[in-house]
Amino acid sequence: MNEEFTVVTSFSPGRLEWLGNHTDYNNGVALSVAIDLGVTAVVTRRGDRQVRLRSASREGVQSFKLDELTQQIYGGWFGYVLGVVDLFKSDGLIDTGLDVEVRSTLPEGAGLSSSAALECAVGLALLKLSGAKMNLLELAKLCQKAEHYYVGTQCGLLDQISSLAARSGEALVIDFRSLQYHSVKLPEGLCFLVVPSGVKHSLVAGEYNVRKASCEAAARAMGVPDLASADVEMLKLHRGVMDDRVYRRALHVLGEITRVKLAISFLEAGDITSVGRLMWESHKSSQENFQNSCAELDGIVEWFARDGRALGARLSGGGFGGSAIVLCREELAEDLIEDYMKAHGKVLGDSRPMLCRAGVGGWELAALP
Ligand code: GLA
Repeated sequence: MNEEFTVVTSFSPGRLEWLGNHTDYNNGVALSVAIDLGVTAVVTRRGDRQVRLRSASREGVQSFKLDELTQQIYGGWFGYVLGVVDLFKSDGLIDTGLDVEVRSTLPEGAGLSSSAALECAVGLALLKLSGAKMNLLELAKLCQKAEHYYVGTQCGLLDQISSLAARSGEALVIDFRSLQYHSVKLPEGLCFLVVPSGVKHSLVAGEYNVRKASCEAAARAMGVPDLASADVEMLKLHRGVMDDRVYRRALHVLGEITRVKLAISFLEAGDITSVGRLMWESHKSSQENFQNSCAELDGIVEWFARDGRALGARLSGGGFGGSAIVLCREELAEDLIEDYMKAHGKVLGDSRPMLCRAGVGGWELAALP
């Protein structure tokens, strides 16, 4: 362990999944935007072997012994942190106790990847504190591993790569087969509204792993290693050899992969209206094929569709609750928020849409000797 620093502060943002729903673990492509909300972690080296975790949004301190950390599902917010700490420990990168304090500006369970932001913020701080050499993808994979084995969600790499690699004013295109990514400039004058559905999604207890298993079943039925190796035509040819539900899950993912590819060319051509149209289509496919929407999310998307001023809207992230994202021209944002609140505010409680801009990726704020 590097003895140079005692305290490191790091930041990692949440993300909006712009298009490419459930494509990551199918080796497809996605388009994402990191936002200006996220998790800040302050990690301090201790003189003993205690690991003490504190979250600004929760009472009390969670205390563990470094030597007793082990690969298991911990349950609770600290599972994300302990996973990252234990993986650093197992790699021989840390060998002292730690104080970890986290503070988040991201609403939890809103589909903005507060989990990955937490893992990545802690990971970035430990990287600096340990002096370990790891590139961005290695750190992203370590954080994903924490979520698989200490939390129990079989997530892909969308959230971690988006959180670490994003740049201000840009969207990120990620190819999950090659794990290559590049940024595309966001057109001027556009913004996203994040509209909470009021339904907290829980990927762990929810249907996420079941959806993943269906995608794998569809790939197996077609004799390909993953869904991204197939296309819609191939899927249709194999319709008879798979369950209808499995067929529809795969149809959604393949549709999403096509929509991401189209969106990239529309973005390059400056045709933002067409990108917006793909968002409406994506939501419809979530509703009908992947069935990861809910009445509240549908209500939001339908309101913006009826209103007619937004360019596009869809659920974002795992689904089953969380938030809808709305793409709109910045000059319309305030009016849209107010009009939406007049129509929905009282019904849905804490449902005020948040105006989000493309923020920066994960970084370290300060390291003190
Ligand atoms: C969650 C997971 C991601 C991705 C999205 C759906 O955010 O953490 O890996 O699968 O859902 O696209």
